[in-house]
Amino acid sequence: MTRTNRLTAVILAAAAAAVQLGGMGANAAPMLIKGDLNRDDRVNISDAVILKNYLLGKYGLNENQSIAADINEDGELDSLDLTALQDIIIGSTNRLPSGTWIGDCMGGKRYFSFGDGAGTLIDPTAGITDSFDITANEDIVVLLMKNSGAELSAFITWQNDESFVLKWDSGDTETFRYFCEDSINASELLTGHWVTSQGRTFDINGLSGKLTDKSGYVSRFEYAPSGEDVMFHFGSTENSTGGKLVHTDSMHFAVTWADGTRETFTRQETEVRGGITYVNGILIANKTYGLPSDYNPGKILPDAQSAFNSMQADAKKAGLSLWICSGFRSYTYQNTLYNNYVARDGKAKADTYSARPGHSEHQTGLAMDINNASDSFNNTKEAKWIAENCYKYGFILRYPQGKQDITGYKYESWHVRYLGKALAKEVHDSGLTLEEFLCIDSKYKS
Ligand code: DAL
Ligand code: ZN
Repeated sequence: MTRTNRLTAVILAAAAAAVQLGGMGANAAPMLIKGDLNRDDRVNISDAVILKNYLLGKYGLNENQSIAADINEDGELDSLDLTALQDIIIGSTNRLPSGTWIGDCMGGKRYFSFGDGAGTLIDPTAGITDSFDITANEDIVVLLMKNSGAELSAFITWQNDESFVLKWDSGDTETFRYFCEDSINASELLTGHWVTSQGRTFDINGLSGKLTDKSGYVSRFEYAPSGEDVMFHFGSTENSTGGKLVHTDSMHFAVTWADGTRETFTRQETEVRGGITYVNGILIANKTYGLPSDYNPGKILPDAQSAFNSMQADAKKAGLSLWICSGFRSYTYQNTLYNNYVARDGKAKADTYSARPGHSEHQTGLAMDINNASDSFNNTKEAKWIAENCYKYGFILRYPQGKQDITGYKYESWHVRYLGKALAKEVHDSGLTLEEFLCIDSKYKS
């Protein structure tokens, strides 16, 4: 092989590796900084000296050095590369970035927005958001972090208008890729696990994410939120889909895509602690999600009880008398109750109005039946008042009319569930059942 051919082969091999390793979600790839011949993750006069000596025939270069030295990527190492290397040095002097950039340090992504000597940093993995002032002095940039008070400095090497490298004083090297012109506001990030009305799931961390479609096909994306506009970039900025974004409440947003279709997104972070399922932190007891038989708070929990007390007091002012006719029920008690109903009405019918043991909300200490747990309570003044007002005290009517296929139970005008005021209002305002609000099922496995 001639030297040129060998160099071309090395470059092609490196390009192939870059395709494999350089895609989104790539792990730490051996970094090749153009012009960094001595591999110290910055480009300065020492690198120029090495290249110059090589061109004078004084030094040899190894493969990685050859790749780093072929700055104009023409497969030849010559004086054009030396000029280009000097241009990198000059171009990295006193030059600050602007717009939003994605920093990649050992495979972890974070986002920097720059402009007018200031900026913001969002590090979703570390859970850090901070703002900073930034100055450049030759090839050194200094960030004064406002929240942490830290002063961070780094050598900056501009590779081209779309990428630069920072070698931090901590020793870490971070590569930066241009993302968009706008600044990113941390409050606009859509971090979380979302299920959508089109049966898709989006797992978002910071400005990156993974989309799983109905058939299980996974694609990765980055997105840019900017006010009511949002743009998703799949794999590259050429493959983008944009839309208008509306935040409905703390657990939902909707996107109207450019083609006019609308997709609603429901946050759905499920956690099982001590055998109890929480979705977005909300304890769930329904036909799908059971409670352990030994879960036994023993009474209505204090917050739910005091919420009921205020509701009762206000109802009284309206001339209505409310009382709890069934509050906490243990697993054992529910077992007796359910089996009695099965003996009376058969299993299929009992399942429409009574929970199996371990599946009753009454076992949570957060649910209660008011006044009279029977259809004769429907349409009473009290039932109407509860339906209209209970959310103000932190309750929702858990089994509304016409939602039997969703909640798993027939209409119960007397059964309320405590969620706390803010959440109860959101669920009430949504007009959805708790199952719909969280996009979850209520179905027995058998
Ligand atoms: N009546 C409700 C569904 C229960 O048994 O918990
Ligand atoms: Zn009940």
